[in-house]
Amino acid sequence: MSRTVIHGGLVVTASDEIHADVLIEGGRIAALAAHGTDPATSWSADRRIDATGMYVLPGGVDAHTHMEMPFGGTYAADTFETGTRAAAWGGTTTIVDFAIQTMGRSLREGLDTWHAKADGRCAVDYGFHMILSDVNESSLKEMDRLVAEGVTSFKLFMAYPGVFYSDDGRILRAMQRASGNGGLVMMHAENGIAIDVLVEQALAEGRTDPRYHGDVRKVALEAEATHRAVQLARVAGAPLYVVHVSADEAVDEIAAARHKGLPVFGETCPQYLFLSTDNLAEPGFEGAKYVCSTPLRPREHQEVLWRGLRNNELQVVSTDHCPFCFSGQKEMGRGDFSKIPNGMPGVEHRMDLLHQAVVDGHLSRRRWVEIACASPARMFGLYPKKGTIAPGADADVVIYDPGAEQTISAETHHMAVDYSAYEGRRVTGQVRTVLSRGVPVIEDRAYVGHAGHGTYLPRGTCQYL
Ligand code: URP
Ligand code: ZN
Ligand code: ZN
Repeated sequence: MSRTVIHGGLVVTASDEIHADVLIEGGRIAALAAHGTDPATSWSADRRIDATGMYVLPGGVDAHTHMEMPFGGTYAADTFETGTRAAAWGGTTTIVDFAIQTMGRSLREGLDTWHAKADGRCAVDYGFHMILSDVNESSLKEMDRLVAEGVTSFKLFMAYPGVFYSDDGRILRAMQRASGNGGLVMMHAENGIAIDVLVEQALAEGRTDPRYHGDVRKVALEAEATHRAVQLARVAGAPLYVVHVSADEAVDEIAAARHKGLPVFGETCPQYLFLSTDNLAEPGFEGAKYVCSTPLRPREHQEVLWRGLRNNELQVVSTDHCPFCFSGQKEMGRGDFSKIPNGMPGVEHRMDLLHQAVVDGHLSRRRWVEIACASPARMFGLYPKKGTIAPGADADVVIYDPGAEQTISAETHHMAVDYSAYEGRRVTGQVRTVLSRGVPVIEDRAYVGHAGHGTYLPRGTCQYL
């Protein structure tokens, strides 16, 4: 059995910061021991990694990605191969992607399709959530089978009428089913029916630029949908995870629900923490690069999101990685913002941007690891296999240089998309080496992994319940 020792680093988990050496055996963490102590100095190993001056972190868990997602007549530009490779570059060793049920088809068919896309192609491990587009008797029954086999979370949409949208009755039925089978309902909380009216009015009045995407997707319509989702979950007796929360008033709804003791959880994304409507308003159609839903908000929302992350009103930061090239894809919406495919690239830079938040004083180091690694693993039934460094856990380990400076740019990133939403941004901190189940994927900033190393992860149910 191969043995690796990582020595000299500061091991940071959600609960601890310890100066310890880490022994990896057969792809799993075997032991931790204080630097210079007897067990650590006597460990034999096939490989020794010097982590002096570095952080030793659990691999990141990005619980919200859309590789090759069909949207608005095109497909997200990253395949499972390119997207998981980029994830590895950024210190993310697990993704949970969204398989999609097509209207009129079964969940099984959608899941099989996503398995076929990912199988043998991933650089790091992956699991699936299921998007429920067609809630009916048969798909409700299928939910039970999926939970039993490790697809334990289901996304529903209050937005996108005619595409993914479910009405309140369908949402309630899915939540009732989840309350019985242990599944977790993930909600895209925006009032899509009202938004579509505002879209039509904006276009009729000649307001066609990307910034109007943000204008019509009102804060009130995110907050209202979040409130409604909470009440429906409460009636169903089901837990609720609200995805890509961007608005201060939506955070308030989640906080109020949690204050009542309801099992309601919230996720936000780096784009809402670092970008704003100023980006959507960039001239010359540049704003299209920042079109996603929920939309970017005015800057003042950012402080509410940071506060929510600090005080656990929000539990998880995922990327909602859904990249579309500017050229040929985002451009489909020139003259009509509603035709710009919704989504932004980000899977590569979540760990770095959140480390920058540590540097800037928004988060502690342990909270960084918690919201990016441990909490998503717990939320989606992967802990402690993923999300921590402890004996028995998978040896998904990131050696992170907290002092390295880098400039984020499309010229140097590894995502298959022709722009960066963070072009030119200087950040402090960079991934040096990444192990996935003990196997190097990134070694001293060189990619040494391969497509097919990543394996499928059947998941347990939410561990916060
Ligand atoms: O704009 C986004 N978020 N695109 C991906 C689909 C979704 O709603 O998460
Ligand atoms: Zn969504
Ligand atoms: Zn998404």
